[in-house]
Amino acid sequence: MGVTVRPAEEGEAEALKQVRLRALRDSPDAFTQPVVAAEAEPIAVYEERIASTVRGETLNLVAVDESGTFVGLAAGIPWEGRTRVVSVWVDPACRGSGVGAELVERIAAWSIERGIDCQIETAPGNDSALRLYRRLGFEPAPDIDPPDGCDVVLIRRSA
Ligand SMILES: CC(C)(COP(=O)(O)OP(=O)(O)OC[C@H]1O[C@@H](n2cnc3c(N)ncnc32)[C@H](O)[C@@H]1OP(=O)(O)O)[C@@H](O)C(=O)NCCC(=O)NCCS
Repeated sequence: MGVTVRPAEEGEAEALKQVRLRALRDSPDAFTQPVVAAEAEPIAVYEERIASTVRGETLNLVAVDESGTFVGLAAGIPWEGRTRVVSVWVDPACRGSGVGAELVERIAAWSIERGIDCQIETAPGNDSALRLYRRLGFEPAPDIDPPDGCDVVLIRRSA
């Protein structure tokens, strides 16, 4: 089934929240936010994520299948002068066909085109995500302290 990667759009806040909750329930060890915390977030949080994407300040991407269901997501957010890639998740039924690579690549390209280094982290033991990010040109940056709950920080440089 064909999957399209695109920015989340106005009016999709509820669907964006639901796919984020699916990600946290499916892969709690891959993320630092507890699912109960995400469940409690008001919809305005997700509306603002979409609004900031429309303003060009962040990039909240969704992967959408042919029926219109959100089957993946990832976001690029400003972080200490870099872009930080967060929330990378693909529905288990859609894994292994390049959707994860496209989500991360789109955010990295958006950042690099603007002359901003791009940062991504993995949780301890998440070797498949680590391999994916290395393949996309991210390199370990041992000089940068990992955010809480993260293991390896990787950077793709803009120059
Ligand atoms: C990490 C993740 C986003 C990758 O998404 P994806 O769409 O499978 O990514 P791709 O298809 O581009 O590449 C995935 C890799 O798995 C391989 N693969 C093949 N079939 C697969 C399957 N059925 N399931 C998972 N991986 C598969 C791919 O060939 C590729 O190889 P590699 O591990 O040597 O790099 C996805 O596995 C996921 O959502 N995991 C749980 C959440 C998570 O760990 N997020 C990252 C937080 S840092």
